Amino acid sequence: MANTILIGAQWGDEGKGKIIDVLTAKADIVVRSQGGNNAGHTVIHRGSKYVLHLIPSGILRRGKTCVIGNGVVIDPVALVAEIDGLRELGITIGRNLLISDCAHLVLPYHRLLDEQRELRQGREKIGTTKRGIGPAYGDKAARTGLRMSDLMQPIVFSKKLQAKISENNRILQALGAKPISFHQVNKSYLAAGERLRPFVGNTVVFLHRALERGKEILFEGAQGTFLDIDHGTYPYVTSSNTTAGGACTGTGVPPHRVDRVVGVMKAYTTRVGEGALPTEDVRLTQMLHNLGREFGATTGRKRRCGWFDAVATRYATMINGIDDLAITNLDGLDDVDPIHVCVAYRLNGKPLDVPPSDAVQLANCEPIYEEVRGWNSSTHSARKLSQLPLAAREYVRYISKLTGARLSVISVGPGRSETIIL
Ligand code: GDP
Ligand code: IMO
Ligand code: MG
Repeated sequence: MANTILIGAQWGDEGKGKIIDVLTAKADIVVRSQGGNNAGHTVIHRGSKYVLHLIPSGILRRGKTCVIGNGVVIDPVALVAEIDGLRELGITIGRNLLISDCAHLVLPYHRLLDEQRELRQGREKIGTTKRGIGPAYGDKAARTGLRMSDLMQPIVFSKKLQAKISENNRILQALGAKPISFHQVNKSYLAAGERLRPFVGNTVVFLHRALERGKEILFEGAQGTFLDIDHGTYPYVTSSNTTAGGACTGTGVPPHRVDRVVGVMKAYTTRVGEGALPTEDVRLTQMLHNLGREFGATTGRKRRCGWFDAVATRYATMINGIDDLAITNLDGLDDVDPIHVCVAYRLNGKPLDVPPSDAVQLANCEPIYEEVRGWNSSTHSARKLSQLPLAAREYVRYISKLTGARLSVISVGPGRSETIIL
């Protein structure tokens, strides 16, 4: 198994939760390094559907330790609710969960600012999940954030919170929003803090000691490559490094301890929120929605869908150093014939084989498609490559070749067993 970073190679929702669940069988520790409860990772476990937001997807398997690393932004109230929700469903959460004391907190004013900024942007909005992610990372970068370690010291926390709330109330009022009550937030956050206290500590030391003992770590990426704050389709991105490098800064595990990078990508493309999606296709979107597929796991919004975009995934391979590919949702194309694959873009009459950095230019890119034949049959029951229809085998080989990484996993359904491991 070795120490493995798993990242999304597209715009998020690639099926990372499902693949993490499959790979967790061989890992000892599953760690989240970035993002917050903007993430929604779906895992089907013993016939029930679980959507994980802050807790690593490995929590569903016994004997695995799950770590929320320093690079994650945590809404403590939401995290307590997630823990309680999982416990109610019979999942054990105790010594198997650790939370970094360096992780920054998402506070109610972050959520309100996120909402207000989106509202004021009107048609230019990002289409965020309104979980306060951008403002929380903003405070972190500005060195004015509150961290888990503050929450563990009630007197320190309350003092800092009071100053932050008085400052943010002035901003909220200037934006036309209602101010928030220090006492209410202080009370609910301190209560959440006490619930989280048993889990909080120095996760960097924990991870290094585990590595010394030969334990294997699986890094669970959230969002996807093109939502990365540096490499994504800025400004239509999230506020963290969703690419492989973020796994190291977000956990304190050095790069040379990483053995492998797995890139997860759908057999087509989806995006939720605003921003360019060069291969977006209204008919494909409609068809997938009619099948009950592609509704957001966090906000329930409809995902926009498009054809497989090899310009994007090839770029993702480069940035992340993807060794292995996991292709998910192959079954989504079971009834599609012909299938289009974007092999290059055209911008102002000129072909492009890498995505332009500018959002307006990207929006003006026209995809250049290759047409490939569909297979017009179900792939759900395939458990070996040889059990896939020939055209489906040709398709996965083709998109892997265009992406430039080794094909290692093919997913043909949401369940753990609906997987072909090569
Ligand atoms: P994540 O954020 O990357 O973990 O992905 P999400 O959970 O947000 O969205 C992926 C969706 O696809 C979920 O509903 C999964 O249950 C589902 N899924 C994952 N792989 C497959 C697959 O191969 N086939 C089908 N039909 N569904 C899949
Ligand atoms: P997982 O981990 C898909 C998108 C939002 C919006 C942009 C910024 O489930 O793949 P934010 O709330 O982060 O400020 O929103 O990023 N976004 C996601 N899209 N999957 C996610 O997570 C996402 N997390 C954020 O829709 O376009
Ligand atoms: Mg998701």
